[in-house]
Amino acid sequence: MIMPKKTAEDFAKQQKEISISEFFEKNKHLLGFDNPTKALLMAVKEAVDNSLDACEEAEILPDITVKIKNLKEDVYKVSIQDNGPGIVKEQVPRIFGKLLYGSKFHRLRQSRGQQGIGISAVVMYSQLTTGSSTRVISRTDEKKKSQMFELVIDTKKNEPEIIKQEDDADGIPGTGIRVEMDILGRYRKSQGVDDYLKQTSISNPFAKISYHAPDGTKMTFPRSVDQLPPPPKEIKIHPYGVEFGILQRFLAQTSSRTLQAFLVNEFSSVGQQTSKEICIIAKLDPNMKPQELEREQIEKLLGAMQKAKVQRPPTDCLSPIGEKELEKSLKKEYPGAEFITTLTRAPEVYRGNPFQIEVGIIYGIPEMKQDAPVEIVRLANRVPLLYQAGACATTEAAKDIDWKRYGLQQSGSNVPTGPAVIVVHMCSAWVPFISESKEAIASYPDIIKEMKLAMQDAGRNLSRYLSGKRRAGDAKRRIQIFERYSGEVASSIALLTKKPGKDIEKKLKSMISQRSSMKEGDKNDEGSPEGA
Ligand SMILES: Nc1ncnc2c1ncn2[C@@H]1O[C@H](COP(=O)(O)OP(=O)(O)OP(=O)(O)O)[C@@H](O)[C@H]1O
Ligand SMILES: [Mg+2]
Repeated sequence: MIMPKKTAEDFAKQQKEISISEFFEKNKHLLGFDNPTKALLMAVKEAVDNSLDACEEAEILPDITVKIKNLKEDVYKVSIQDNGPGIVKEQVPRIFGKLLYGSKFHRLRQSRGQQGIGISAVVMYSQLTTGSSTRVISRTDEKKKSQMFELVIDTKKNEPEIIKQEDDADGIPGTGIRVEMDILGRYRKSQGVDDYLKQTSISNPFAKISYHAPDGTKMTFPRSVDQLPPPPKEIKIHPYGVEFGILQRFLAQTSSRTLQAFLVNEFSSVGQQTSKEICIIAKLDPNMKPQELEREQIEKLLGAMQKAKVQRPPTDCLSPIGEKELEKSLKKEYPGAEFITTLTRAPEVYRGNPFQIEVGIIYGIPEMKQDAPVEIVRLANRVPLLYQAGACATTEAAKDIDWKRYGLQQSGSNVPTGPAVIVVHMCSAWVPFISESKEAIASYPDIIKEMKLAMQDAGRNLSRYLSGKRRAGDAKRRIQIFERYSGEVASSIALLTKKPGKDIEKKLKSMISQRSSMKEGDKNDEGSPEGA
């Protein structure tokens, strides 16, 4: 008998639990910390996204200040302050010092954060790369002083470790949060903090953001609207989006006494009638206890839930930017652009999740080259996505459109070229990101389809503008040709008619301009090239 070199008992000695913090410390790239430029962006992005979420939920117009200072070589001090509701003393340590701790994961409501990992991941990256603790100042009541915490994460336990705490710290005027940390990073003008803040200002026109860049530049992104959007409502999961394990857990945990009541109480868009219909299709007794369903019965129930005609989910859980608001922001950010069009499509559904697509096209941006690829600004729940463009549904949808029909140059199925920016925003109670770093939207066919339709709609507006511009150019050229010869023609006519050449030339010129403006009027009645 051959003795194995290592026994199961030997293995057993090495087998132990891995804390989530240890896992992400080793796999920080999964959270977007895969290079110093991106790390600096992530630190700002996670804090600003949280500030915007908190302000919006507390119905406060956000006023956010971002300061970045280069301490030495690749080490930066990052400070983000908001005027939100603040965080109660007991929660501060866990929010900043424990991965997977938050208020947004267990609900279906549109927000920038989803996972409960964002800000604690930055704290973890800060201590990993610089060995320093994070300072959090929180004030929840204007009448009381701020709380100050200095903390790190005990990665072995995934628990906060408080280094210092003060009860009556100064610092926050009104209420809000300030978070300060040192991180290893690199500052770059493009695809970094500057782009993120500019695009955040476009997608959050109600926010005021002040920014002190590491190179000493100070800038303010002012509000372009003075009102918060209506708060999105929380929804329940739709029967079309449910999966076996979730249904099994829901059945086990529900307080509903009958299957029929369970379906009505736990899912969106299911009334008594639909609930009965689901039970009939599944051949299950509507009065049975939800906890008593056997495995096979759960399978049948799941099948029936997908088969039954269920109303679409409610869409008041969505908070799009809005056509007018997006246009205002774009006008503010691209003051020199020739043409801007924006549109918001009606809500649609992917796998039971309502979502909505908005598109803006900005054309004729002076600083952009005619033959460079169009810039695609990708937004998910108002958050700019700056990396992994190639893997994102927005890029796939944009490439799948024949942009020549809309007046842009395009070779093959590449991103079109021209002095233009295409903004694509997806909002949803659950955005399907391709990874934990929330950098790209997964290509669900329903999402791609809506994105294409939205871009095509906006494309039609662009093509109308461009053909109008072309016609105006043609008319101008015609006038120029006639005008060029009007002097010669006038002197020939003067010879024949023996009348003063100057008068004839004047009359000729006025005829030319009258005729060409008449022709222009006729042509304007034609449709766009697509007949849209
Ligand atoms: N500036 C803030 N003001 C008030 N509450 C905050 C603030 N920052 C964070 N929070 C609270 O802390 C929680 C955890 O934040 P964190 O960024 O780690 O996760 P998240 O925003 O829920 O999801 P995600 O991982 O997708 O960012 C939030 O859910 C929120 O309840
Ligand atoms: Mg967050």
